[in-house]
Amino acid sequence: MCAVKARRSYGYAFVTLHRFTSKGPLTGRIRVPGDKSISHRALMFGALAVGRSRISGLLEGEDVLATAAALRAMGASIEKDGDDWIVDGVGVGTLLQPDGALDMGNSGTSTRLLMGLVASHGITATFTGDASLSKRPMGRVIDPLSTMGASFSPSPGGTLPLVMEGMQPAVPISYRLPVASAQVKSAVLLAGLNTPGTTTVIEPVPTRDHTERMLRGFGVEVQVEEKDGERIIKVTGPCDLTPCDITVPGDPSSAAFFAVAASIVPGSDIVIENVGLNPTRDGIYRVLEQMGADIQYIDRREVGGEPVADLRVRHAQHKGIEVDPEIAPSMIDEFPVLFVAAAMAEGTTVTSGLEELRVKESDRLSAMAAALKLAGAAVEERDDGLVIQGSGGKPLAGGGPVTTHLDHRIAMSMAVAGLASAEGVEIDSTEPIATSFPNFMDLIEEASA
Ligand code: S3P
Repeated sequence: MCAVKARRSYGYAFVTLHRFTSKGPLTGRIRVPGDKSISHRALMFGALAVGRSRISGLLEGEDVLATAAALRAMGASIEKDGDDWIVDGVGVGTLLQPDGALDMGNSGTSTRLLMGLVASHGITATFTGDASLSKRPMGRVIDPLSTMGASFSPSPGGTLPLVMEGMQPAVPISYRLPVASAQVKSAVLLAGLNTPGTTTVIEPVPTRDHTERMLRGFGVEVQVEEKDGERIIKVTGPCDLTPCDITVPGDPSSAAFFAVAASIVPGSDIVIENVGLNPTRDGIYRVLEQMGADIQYIDRREVGGEPVADLRVRHAQHKGIEVDPEIAPSMIDEFPVLFVAAAMAEGTTVTSGLEELRVKESDRLSAMAAALKLAGAAVEERDDGLVIQGSGGKPLAGGGPVTTHLDHRIAMSMAVAGLASAEGVEIDSTEPIATSFPNFMDLIEEASA
């Protein structure tokens, strides 16, 4: 087993530890689960359409299941049918008031996008979440949605638990994003679907565009204009959504863990099938290639309106680089695993412009700096990024236990580091992994067999 379980007592609490150790090269063909961002949106838009939508390849992770439960509580019917999911929507403007609180678990995407939906419906909803989500800033969506007419009673610091009252009819706004965030963009656009008039979002820096792409698939006219380097996105409500069938491509964020693992474990040669390569999401692969990664893109095609390919990744010695901060929005979730690749590279990798990483499921700059140092890497933490002195291909010493702070991507990144370490890396909990990648451990076993 590459993951060895142990129970250790810290004071009165018992923690289940896992040690990820070297298992040799990663080989064969694997398929990662469906894209998390696309899965959330497929359920939400299906719930807003009148009639039946069918989704194949939906990610059945805890975050997406939290979205499904909330939409059911607001009137949609969502059921599994074989490998597919069927959504019978209620239509725009007719979401029901949920009876109880909507438990968002660990999921920022569920919370912020659903707040957008509720904002322009005449209903009241309470949002709750786990300890990680309850620390994350909601002011970034509260601000624009309040301007549209919704009212909020958040916890101190603009966090969950939070009660909100939507406004029907809401007021259309033109909103320039103060942070590069697809969640904020999507929250405003989703509120705009049931708002009479034109709702506009101005994006100074492009972020993932799954909302715009998929709304078009549901028959909504989404206008996108590029002007002076900015993207101006408009929807005119109220909109009718036409049900449709959606195929969710494999998640490039999940595939990145295996791409990095194969890149740093000598002798690896793996094919990851059906990986989404939307240009607003594929930054990690471009940066890995700049560092010297050996990645082949096989059979480029389209799945569900998104570019997709099978990726063949072979071990290669990487070199440290200065990562252009402009690429950050297209790989915002992949920095933790990029830091692992950097720790094994030859020379220094410098990252900057990453303040947003401090408000993800954990403060990913300090969590990864601490975790990599425990595993034997040379890391300097700066306000807006990490500077990592690579080992030049030598395995990291290993160690732990690493604190994952309820953050799935810290857990998986350090599991990958463990695969390329001398002694293994111990992780305080693998439970958070189920939020986005339920079969991660099985796929590690399969690829290392
Ligand atoms: C997401 C947007 C990103 C990303 C998150 C998913 C989305 O968050 O980190 O995992 O599906 O819109 P931000 O909008 O906060 O950058």
